[in-house]
Amino acid sequence: MPVANLIDGRAIASQIQSETAQRVAALKARGVQPGLVFVRVGEDPASKVYVGMKEKVSVQLGIFSETRVLPQTTTEAELLALLAQLNADARVHGILVQAPLPKHIRETVVYSTVLPQKDVDGFHPENVGKLMLGDPSGFWPCTPAGVLELLVRSQVKIEGAEAVILGRGNIVGKPMAAILCQKSKHANATVTICHSQTQDIKAHCRRADILIAAMGSPKFVTADMVKPGATVIDVGVNRVSDPTAKGGSRLVGDVDFDAVQPIAGRITPNPGGVGPMTIALLMQNTVRAAELAAESTKS
Ligand code: GUN
Repeated sequence: MPVANLIDGRAIASQIQSETAQRVAALKARGVQPGLVFVRVGEDPASKVYVGMKEKVSVQLGIFSETRVLPQTTTEAELLALLAQLNADARVHGILVQAPLPKHIRETVVYSTVLPQKDVDGFHPENVGKLMLGDPSGFWPCTPAGVLELLVRSQVKIEGAEAVILGRGNIVGKPMAAILCQKSKHANATVTICHSQTQDIKAHCRRADILIAAMGSPKFVTADMVKPGATVIDVGVNRVSDPTAKGGSRLVGDVDFDAVQPIAGRITPNPGGVGPMTIALLMQNTVRAAELAAESTKS
């Protein structure tokens, strides 16, 4: 039986991608070829898959892209030297350094080195600061921006809603909170962030009109944690061992989908929910970076 309350991330992402493809075509008509460079350090299997998926979509949308793969033993200075080269290359409008990086490389230093106007990941302190200040001229991180698009395009009421976010990471939890509590249209939620030290997480979750799970704990959100009718967004990607699966493991989200789906008003499937949106928003950020660069070089 089809599930009536699903938020179809693939369908919404493909709608955003057609909008982005039109913007790429408009740029090309002006002689501008948008360009995106991925930097991957080491051979983390999940990062390989993610970067491969992102590169494939870039190509589909007509964005020039390439992946620079550096060995695990790359020094921080070597990575910064590559970033300086990409910062200076006018053909490159967006730079994405895939996390996680090897332990000996400081992520904060790396993300501060990417030029803010090429930081399509929204990780540079200037872009993080602009998000906190409500200044729309910066880039927002792709995953929380994608979650917002899912909510808005599914007509979920955000204004005045109780939004509870599980997880306080820099990639999802913290920017998600900043996005939902903006004093602007499609925001104005009352936001709570829960984390490993939160007392009585269940009580917080049960108050949520919008529950966003992004803490990286397999099937953490169970039926008794969800208010009937709530919107549930599952950002989690967890590899768990499963001897019956191909390769001995499989991916599960942070939400126990089968238990929660009948109670939720709306719910994202996983896969097929947030994942495609992260990629769609990355492409949107890249095209915007190219548009802004083209504007700034116009005489
Ligand atoms: N690793 C997991 N998510 C992300 C992301 O959104 N951007 C980058 N660069 N690395 C990640």
